[in-house]
Amino acid sequence: MIHVTHLSKWFPNQPVLNRVSFSVDEGESLVVLGQSGIGKSVLLKTLSRLIEPDEGFAEIRTRNIGIVFQKNALFDSLSAYENLDFVMRERTRETAPARRNKIMNYLEWVGLAGSAHLMPNELSGGMQKRLAIARTLIVEPQVVLYDEPTAGLDPITSRLIAELILRLKKEAGSTLVTVTSDVQRAFQLGTKVGILVRTALGAELLMAGSPEEARASSDERIQQFLKGATRGPLTTKITASSESRNNLANKDFWDGDFF
Ligand SMILES: Nc1ncnc2c1ncn2[C@@H]1O[C@H](COP(=O)(O)OP(=O)(O)O)[C@@H](O)[C@H]1O
Ligand SMILES: [Mg+2]
Repeated sequence: MIHVTHLSKWFPNQPVLNRVSFSVDEGESLVVLGQSGIGKSVLLKTLSRLIEPDEGFAEIRTRNIGIVFQKNALFDSLSAYENLDFVMRERTRETAPARRNKIMNYLEWVGLAGSAHLMPNELSGGMQKRLAIARTLIVEPQVVLYDEPTAGLDPITSRLIAELILRLKKEAGSTLVTVTSDVQRAFQLGTKVGILVRTALGAELLMAGSPEEARASSDERIQQFLKGATRGPLTTKITASSESRNNLANKDFWDGDFF
């Protein structure tokens, strides 16, 4: 269903993705793990053609691709019901009664039937995520891309969201690509798992196989990521520029009342 070949993307100031290749069969669920800032969102945006790759190809055998953004991208001034109605009007030719019927079904499916009239800012984080998922799925995409679907949610809500994603996938028979930094959710959601690792040329994708194969992998980089170890072949850059250090040094709060 999805074939990605030697995909590279770089921005003027930095390389982001280097020769990323993978394929996902119809009905499969690929989860790509990676540290914050490594290029997970850039990868999904390239798959959904929101940005163009600099090299390589992303071929997807359908034009009906849905994406659930990390920050949900809900319409703040529309109610839950109206958020779904908006995309149905834009993307389908269904009559008002047919739309109403389908919207109520989808709200029911994600457990928001009683919240149809509420505005996004009146919903909890988990409810907003469920609404964002319903809004993406209501136009029945064959491929669904999830950008950190459980980021910022508590562990129980995260697990419930992942269960919902799997239930809706099964009912719709869709193909998923999820990017996340949450190892537990990756094991729950993925039929196969890959990890983005940083190199001087940008992030490269290491495919680790099924969740069981990933756990049993002898690759030190995969083991380090799965365990969240700070020491190992994967490095994290947390550095201040010398300019900001100088600014700090010039401030006199170090010997003031700051602490
Ligand atoms: N439109 C853009 N222009 C320039 N740099 C960008 C752009 N989008 C993302 N980046 C950079 O690409 C890198 C990867 O970003 P992103 O894919 O958002 O990371 P994450 O893995 O956290 O989702 C970051 O260093 C980010 O600053
Ligand atoms: Mg991101």
